[in-house]
Amino acid sequence: MENMAKIKCLEKIKFTNDKKKYISESLNQKLIKQALLISFQFWSEKLKNNLKFPKNLYPKYYKAYKSATECDIFQKGGIDIKDHINIFVLLSIIKPGLYCESGVFKGSSIHSALHALEPKIVYGIDPKPKLNKRIKSLLFNEVETKLDFNEFEFDTNTKKKVVFFDDHINSMQRIIDAKEKGFKYIIFDDSTGFEGIGQRRYPALPTVGMLKYNKLFNENDFFSWSLPINKMSWKSRAKSPKSLLKKYIKVTARIDKRCKDEMNQAEKYIKKIINFPDLSELLFASEPGMINNTQKYIILL
Ligand SMILES: C[S@@+](CC[C@H](N)C(=O)[O-])C[C@H]1O[C@@H](n2cnc3c(N)ncnc32)[C@H](O)[C@@H]1O
Repeated sequence: MENMAKIKCLEKIKFTNDKKKYISESLNQKLIKQALLISFQFWSEKLKNNLKFPKNLYPKYYKAYKSATECDIFQKGGIDIKDHINIFVLLSIIKPGLYCESGVFKGSSIHSALHALEPKIVYGIDPKPKLNKRIKSLLFNEVETKLDFNEFEFDTNTKKKVVFFDDHINSMQRIIDAKEKGFKYIIFDDSTGFEGIGQRRYPALPTVGMLKYNKLFNENDFFSWSLPINKMSWKSRAKSPKSLLKKYIKVTARIDKRCKDEMNQAEKYIKKIINFPDLSELLFASEPGMINNTQKYIILL
């Protein structure tokens, strides 16, 4: 039997401080084109009954991809290329009259929206955005840093409004608010089922992954999970000296009456929940190391 440690890889292994991935240009283009095609087939079937793949979609997306790599947006805290593609395709098919993103941060997802849509219909909200200058210059409006999504006034006459929540706020409240503001589509990130909940300190509880199985959750049900303490910043660790001696941080969640009522109310508003297709066979993840569950959803209201 061969010893795994001694099996030779196709290429050499070396120690490095470089965490970037590299791929030959022609292979990269083929992989991205394939991912774009799969995403398009998936979304056109789910939303519009089999549209024809538009000829200009690949050149348009590849331009967006090139700009994304130049802006270095595929980083920790942002989305992977697979969902940069999914968002681009989704918005190209829906063609919304307005797109709002709550939780802009470094701008990997809003970058995709800006390339799929006209800049003047793209709005961003974040109390602490960290957009690089180039993405900022693509935006028509300043990122809103004071008002929350539920305080923001949207034009009620605009048809087909899409909102993307990547802000880790209670997903049920977000669904209820989006419905009241006349949004037809909601995209959710960081609102996964249990695998992803257990990998995050701040999942958007109650999550869309939970709402899909609303019947299984009762008042007073609880769950808790631990995360390696090194996921906490040194700044927060310094504030709680006890953390310095421990290996894990434990998070506990309980379904109280308000939470269950919100889940029931949100469920009533929903026509359909669609899981984003997983394009990961074709594309590298942005960050090295642990694989996180990054399941995203679109909700049709
Ligand atoms: C995971 S990051 C978003 C990543 C981003 N979509 C991207 O692709 O780069 C979460 C962001 O939500 C923001 N946030 C926190 N509370 C918020 C709120 N009430 N409304 C909007 N954004 C919020 C945080 O400041 C943070 O920048």
